[in-house]
Amino acid sequence: MKYDVKDLGLAREGALRIEWAARNMPVLRLIRDRFQRQRPLRGIRIGCCLHVTSETANLMETLKAGGAAVSLCASNPLSTQDDVAASLAKDLKIPVFAIKGEDTKTYYDHLNAVLDFKPRLTMDDGADLVSALHSARSAQIKHMLGGTEETTTGVIRLRSLADQGKLLFPVIAVNDACTKHYFDNRYGTGQSSIDGILRATNMLIAGSTFVVCGYGQCGRGVASRAQGMGAHVIVTEVDPLKALEAVMDGYRVMPIVKAAAEGDIFITVTGDAAVIDQAAFEKMKDGAIVCNSGHFDVEVNLQTLRRLASKVRRIRPFVQEYTLRAGGRKINVLGEGRLINLAAAEGHPSMVMDMSFANQALASEFMAEHGRELEKIVYSMPAELDQEIARLKLKSLGVRIDTLTAEQKKYLTSWEAGT
Ligand SMILES: NC(=O)c1ccc[n+]([C@@H]2O[C@H](COP(=O)([O-])OP(=O)(O)OC[C@H]3O[C@@H](n4cnc5c(N)ncnc54)[C@H](O)[C@@H]3O)[C@@H](O)[C@H]2O)c1
Repeated sequence: MKYDVKDLGLAREGALRIEWAARNMPVLRLIRDRFQRQRPLRGIRIGCCLHVTSETANLMETLKAGGAAVSLCASNPLSTQDDVAASLAKDLKIPVFAIKGEDTKTYYDHLNAVLDFKPRLTMDDGADLVSALHSARSAQIKHMLGGTEETTTGVIRLRSLADQGKLLFPVIAVNDACTKHYFDNRYGTGQSSIDGILRATNMLIAGSTFVVCGYGQCGRGVASRAQGMGAHVIVTEVDPLKALEAVMDGYRVMPIVKAAAEGDIFITVTGDAAVIDQAAFEKMKDGAIVCNSGHFDVEVNLQTLRRLASKVRRIRPFVQEYTLRAGGRKINVLGEGRLINLAAAEGHPSMVMDMSFANQALASEFMAEHGRELEKIVYSMPAELDQEIARLKLKSLGVRIDTLTAEQKKYLTSWEAGT
């Protein structure tokens, strides 16, 4: 079996982390038990490009329990947990290609190693596998049943491919599931991004001015966590509805160039490029902290910052200090502008990844069964699967809810009753 990990000797630590994560993934465990009995993925090769974390390891075990053969590479050069990767290769015998800190060439060599495995299903976080299959590796597409996509940015890329009529197999947008983006993007990114900032800097959040760029699912999670820790939160947006929502949620909203002069800590969560650029860097206070938790490392324009700087040094792990030529102010960039929650912390807590990966497991089962009948478009997660995951999660939390009476069902589906 081929694999490329940092050090197989780390496998023991990795196995313990995987076991720890499993304790907070009860929904995935139920799916794994059923997969073990029913083997819905028997004989199917799945190529996965995901953050290689302890939660992902639990998903890999689930897919294997369903009868799939899986191969895994990292969906970001800085998001791999090397001990988990070692355990996946050594204990679970999964061909895994991921090393934390890998350069761009190695990242793509690893991605190609997964495609060499000749998957019939892809499981992406950011659409890099699908993108490679639609360009350099297009000869393989005839074998494909379909794919699944984890994140907002990946879904945007896939919808753009589909809109141009160029998507060559069906893909399920796992991110569209309510049990994914309401929880993973909001509570997961909210908590783990703050965790990444704290681990990298040990700054006090209370009393700081904390600028959140983008008030989508991720942004509202980060903003509410920062506010909960005592920060004065400023939101920047380009969408008037989202901006209005941020105003009514109690935040100050203003353009980034104005916020730049006030902020102590900045985080981008937009999925957009060059959100923090020259005009903002020129206004920032000495010692400002800048990071990103959106999918790609393009949200903070680091090329421009480098051009403006006379000196760059690593002052702490995951902290690069840029000294600006003009005035000698220092701007600190965390995690090389890559997802701070995965670069400097451990990504989302298992409790939320339980639902995200339950969606991934059920989406791959759905695709294995129906892939051949589906059109070559991006599908949302089937609503009944989304509901089922919410039901199972509530059950695992010991929370019971009411059910509609026959009379209420009738009332809610009729038009006759009025004033
Ligand atoms: N860190 C993580 O673990 C993690 C988890 C989930 C999603 N993501 C990624 O985070 C990003 C955001 O995801 P989301 O689900 O919140 O998306 P979303 O579409 O719900 O929100 C993005 C928001 O950013 C705003 N925006 C766009 N350009 C902007 C700009 N120049 N300035 C200010 N605001 C701008 C949009 O109007 C939108 O409201 C995506 O790249 C997604 O893939 C990361």
